[in-house]
Amino acid sequence: MFETISLIGLGYIGLPTAALFAARGTQVVGVDISQKVVDTINAGKIHIVEPELDGIVHKAVTGGKLRATRTPEPADAFIIAVPTPFKDNHEPDLSYIQSAALMIAPVLKPGDLVILESTSPVGATEQMAGWLAEARADLSFPQTAGEDADIQIAHCPERILPGQVVRELVENDRIIGGMTARASEMAVAMYKLVVKGNCAITNARTAEMCKLTENSCRDVSIAFANELSMICDALDIDVWELIALANRHPRINILQPGAGVGGHCIAVDPWFIVSSAPETARLIRTARMRNDEKPDWVLQKGKDAIMQVLADNPDRAMKDVKVACLGLAFKPDIDDLRESPAMQIAHGFADLGCRVLAVEPHIDTLPGSFAAKPVTLTPLADALAQADVVCVLVRHSAFADLRPRVPATTRVLDVVGI
Ligand SMILES: NC(=O)c1ccc[n+]([C@@H]2O[C@H](COP(=O)([O-])OP(=O)(O)OC[C@H]3O[C@@H](n4cnc5c(N)ncnc54)[C@H](O)[C@@H]3O)[C@@H](O)[C@H]2O)c1
Repeated sequence: MFETISLIGLGYIGLPTAALFAARGTQVVGVDISQKVVDTINAGKIHIVEPELDGIVHKAVTGGKLRATRTPEPADAFIIAVPTPFKDNHEPDLSYIQSAALMIAPVLKPGDLVILESTSPVGATEQMAGWLAEARADLSFPQTAGEDADIQIAHCPERILPGQVVRELVENDRIIGGMTARASEMAVAMYKLVVKGNCAITNARTAEMCKLTENSCRDVSIAFANELSMICDALDIDVWELIALANRHPRINILQPGAGVGGHCIAVDPWFIVSSAPETARLIRTARMRNDEKPDWVLQKGKDAIMQVLADNPDRAMKDVKVACLGLAFKPDIDDLRESPAMQIAHGFADLGCRVLAVEPHIDTLPGSFAAKPVTLTPLADALAQADVVCVLVRHSAFADLRPRVPATTRVLDVVGI
């Protein structure tokens, strides 16, 4: 039924998905608008950091099962995995989905399946079906022809954890949201080529909401922990001890506070619910805003510590104060700096005019956004030896035995409870 599968968008989601289908023997055509991505993959290499993936892609390409191109080709199923960011006003930006749909429309033929994997606001799959129908008046689509449509369409969101993608793509349960029962049936048959987890069938709108709900649930839970950390600070209570004690209750599981919430999923997806139900999604909106406020709160705490340093040393100026920022990534033990609250905080210190010693063991060079700012990538030992203020922003394993290594006189702001 699925001799050829086409992946549209070959990033963190699309490339591993393409490679795993190819590894199971399916002919896979990957489509990406970036020539660099296409060339890298066709050379049997990868452009993203993901354990084990390079070997799988290399084997799939050299074995003739995976090929990348910028121009869509006919296939039996199309999986769209393009970005879904939000615009300045937090409204979802569906332009990538629209352009991907318009790219594949000319090569669609009766019997094809189109799957939207991109994380999407409720209604996006129907919207995509509308764009496809406008582009191909000669074909029928599920919104008008239902089960008998020439083209079947489903939303099947992805919930893999970066760093564990190769295992989770196979083992995780999948949500299969067909616009029709036929679409769900076809999508299950396709995913079962690689997925060992259960494929749970629902409709497209519920599948869209399911993915958004998962990430909003995480966001609200983290916001609770972050708010607790701010309350405890004001009440002079150790929030880490408090959470450990509360979690002894058999039905309580409070998450750990941090510098905020980063990355491109949890910090983004709840806004898709808020934009769909602005009057009702009050808790979700507040949690999102609470987590967005946390980096500013940390920065203010850091400023207080810097002011104390200056008060204790009247001969020194702001430019002489050294602040070590331990961690820049958006979560522990990865190199991903996207939407990272730690990055925001490091920028905030630099903008104050003090010297920032950035300690990030997972990168070799600082991102360009720090150019022309007083920020240097510094080894941990040097930063600890030099800093007036140490801010622990990310719970990297490399920082685990920190306490005995920080000089007694150094002011410490530990926002992750090391
Ligand atoms: N990365 C994750 O951990 C993760 C997890 C779950 C869901 N998602 C969702 O999956 C989707 C894709 O995310 P990602 O992390 O893979 O993004 P990404 O930025 O890594 O990759 C997207 C790719 O799509 C390409 N592209 C853009 N427009 C295109 C078009 N019209 N046609 C063909 N290619 C196009 C880009 O060049 C890029 O290579 C998003 O909706 C995201 O929210 C991501």
